[in-house]
Amino acid sequence: MRDAQEDAPLYDAVRRVAGRQACWLHVPAHRQKAPRGGEQLQGVYHLDLTELPGLDDLHCPRGPIERAQELAARAYGADRTFFLVNGSTGGLQSLILAVPGRELILPRNIHRSVCAALIFSGADPVWVDPVHLPEFNLSGWVEPRCLAATLANHRSAAVLMVRPTYCGLAGDLKALTALAHGAGAPMLVDEAHGAHLRFHPGLPPDAMACGADGAVQSTHKTGGALTQAAMLHLGRGVLDAGRLASAFNLTQTTSPSFPLLASLDLARRDLVREGRARLEEALDLADVLRRRLARCPGLAVLGPGDVPDGFLDPTRVVVATRGTGLTGWEAARVLWERYRVRVELATPDLILAVLGIGTTREDGLGLATALGDLCRREGRKPLSSPAAWPPRPVKRLGPRAAWSAAWRRVELSQAAGLVSAELIAVHPPGLITVCPGEEITSGIVEYLARAGDLGLSVHGAADATLRTVRVVDF
Ligand SMILES: Cc1ncc(COP(=O)(O)O)c(C=O)c1O
Repeated sequence: MRDAQEDAPLYDAVRRVAGRQACWLHVPAHRQKAPRGGEQLQGVYHLDLTELPGLDDLHCPRGPIERAQELAARAYGADRTFFLVNGSTGGLQSLILAVPGRELILPRNIHRSVCAALIFSGADPVWVDPVHLPEFNLSGWVEPRCLAATLANHRSAAVLMVRPTYCGLAGDLKALTALAHGAGAPMLVDEAHGAHLRFHPGLPPDAMACGADGAVQSTHKTGGALTQAAMLHLGRGVLDAGRLASAFNLTQTTSPSFPLLASLDLARRDLVREGRARLEEALDLADVLRRRLARCPGLAVLGPGDVPDGFLDPTRVVVATRGTGLTGWEAARVLWERYRVRVELATPDLILAVLGIGTTREDGLGLATALGDLCRREGRKPLSSPAAWPPRPVKRLGPRAAWSAAWRRVELSQAAGLVSAELIAVHPPGLITVCPGEEITSGIVEYLARAGDLGLSVHGAADATLRTVRVVDF
């Protein structure tokens, strides 16, 4: 019998409807034609339709969207899957809106979209600290004993984990989920960087396989969908499907893009058909790359041997550069300008290369050759790491109350003792430095001043130079 996973019902429906000869008198008014000069986008314009007969309604799916979501749910081992058109951002907000109750346990290395969800939902964060890998200045997974201690002191509505992290670090999600369930709390997972995990046994197990109740994946990052297209999976656990569907309807546009939705359908089919073979190639290439980089003087490469078994997605290649005398920023600039090699991320300490289903051997070996040459030519005195772990502030108000309060802007140097009205997250190490409602202590003022001087990247703050900050005007 033919495997239903060979079908792409939504993509086929979009193609069929787009190809019909008819008089079109509805939006989008571009009538499937790219503006003059934009011919390279014509293929996308051709499929850019709205909820016409023969297509479906994302908010009440009863046709090809419903079928495509069912196939995705089966492929990912979920009870139900929702297609998202505004990235994991909207999915995380749906998940958090769907858990009634005040307290949410979560690590300090959440993405800022989760902070937005705290503001929208009014949830009260209870923070746990992820582990720190000092050589790479990275935040990682949450240790089960740390979650157990927090659960012992809080009757929380839910627990949320970020897994894997941007740099591919994954903890023991099965153990964490068992702890959350033992305390009656659902486990929600920000799996934005893990849409590919399910398709190769050499990768850490995905959230659904670990028994999570809800997980959000940026299919556009590693699963082959168009940028913004993502999925929200409901596990077989305790989340209320009706409440989740209703939260999903609150967070998604009423005009979802059919090219994005169709790309999710195609990405799922491709991952099922070829994901394992393509990830096998990416893993082999990652292995070759790590072995070649290990021979380069001054580089330190994060490898599976540096963390407990199964805690690293090897397709994320993290390379600390400070031993060469170059910051990660400088190394990334030279890689691009001299060798035409573009990496995913650079920080003062490291560069991150992402290998995936589309990476070619030339891409991977190009990075190895370029870094080898760079180390030979640039080798200088090693640098010490500038970035420190931020001090933990004290909570004065919940994020929603602080964000909605009247605020004023003050010079950072005058902010000690005041309550932040905004989120400030400094990268690296990518932790939330201050959440809305937390007191800006003198330690935080010092930390932020140093981060501003070093030009570290700042997320969330209205003034990214950090000369001023927004505080609650009591
Ligand atoms: C850990 C994490 N969660 C969530 C997101 C948001 O994902 P998206 O860009 O798909 O909305 C990101 C984005 O980079 C992320 O790194």
